Amino acid sequence: MNSLISYPAHVAALKPYVPGLPISAVAARSGIAQDRIVKLASNENPLGASPKALDALSRAAIDLSRYPDSDCAALSDAIAEFHGVPRDWIVVGAGSESVLGNLVSTLLQPGRSTVYSQYSFQAFVNAAQKLGASSMVVPSPDFSVDLDGLADAIQPSTALVYIANPGNPTGTVVEPGALKAFLERVPAHVVVLLDEAYFEFMPAALRGDSIAWVREHPNLVVTRTFSKAYGLAGLRIGYGIAQSGLADVMRRVRSPFTISDAAQVAAIAALEDVEFIERTVAMTNEGRKALTSGLSEKGYRCVESHTNFVLAAVDGGAAFASKLEKHGLIVRPVTSYGLADWVRVSIGTPAEIDRFLAAL
Ligand SMILES: Cc1ncc(COP(=O)(O)O)c(C=O)c1O
Repeated sequence: MNSLISYPAHVAALKPYVPGLPISAVAARSGIAQDRIVKLASNENPLGASPKALDALSRAAIDLSRYPDSDCAALSDAIAEFHGVPRDWIVVGAGSESVLGNLVSTLLQPGRSTVYSQYSFQAFVNAAQKLGASSMVVPSPDFSVDLDGLADAIQPSTALVYIANPGNPTGTVVEPGALKAFLERVPAHVVVLLDEAYFEFMPAALRGDSIAWVREHPNLVVTRTFSKAYGLAGLRIGYGIAQSGLADVMRRVRSPFTISDAAQVAAIAALEDVEFIERTVAMTNEGRKALTSGLSEKGYRCVESHTNFVLAAVDGGAAFASKLEKHGLIVRPVTSYGLADWVRVSIGTPAEIDRFLAAL
């Protein structure tokens, strides 16, 4: 850092967010052709983007010289209809990560605190730290979320509790009855952020009716994304649902014009692509079985996952990932989560999983 510039201590302490390596970067340093590289590092959809979204984009007359609709009016209407909630309960963002950041900026400041489980999504942790808020981190020895531990960790300074369900990088889920009981227990002035980026991959029996919970709890925000099951990670589009009071403040905090018209058009069409979501989920379920049994047969322990990636114990995650890179396979070391001996492997197509298991 430039020594002449002084940074607030919480900014100087920020750790870089470590994303999955892009295919182009691995191609450049390995010499392997891009189309021979398999990326299993960022929990994207290996089937590509929703065909309905691609079709809508190809037909849309988007004027790149004009600013996009900052209010995301048509998309907010579509999301509101999809979930059966009022339009003013919707807060759209450039990826759900930006909705998390938006909520954090709405609530946190130095002197306020947030509560979350160990191994919580790094982008949330960084967003909270950026604002100088303190964090109460509840241990998760078995990779599950300790809801009683979260409730007990709430202090007078606590403004926000974060739960990702399913969690990343763990892949574990919280049982819906327990989550509902937890919501009843949280004081009404403390906001709960329920991050459902991987909702579509959860088995029906483990899904809670989180939108109904928003109706009962003015302090609950549920976030969803188009990046995972819908296959639109590159367009950056996600949203939050909260009752109008909180949603209104979040919309005021949000930066204007961050969501392109292309993203808005694609997301509206993607919401209707039921067939694509079903195909994606079916392939992911089969792939998860193949990946976990293949890893287990080779002696690697896997955390039971309910989403589109698997956390596996290896000896030295970074070294494991760099060996695979030489075979044109990108997986995600999770050292930045304090898990030096683990890797996270996204569920690819059947052919991609075969290639990964063969390389092992
Ligand atoms: C738990 C969780 N929440 C949110 C996100 C953010 O996704 P996006 O900003 O692409 O919507 C991710 C992405 O990996 C995630 O794993």
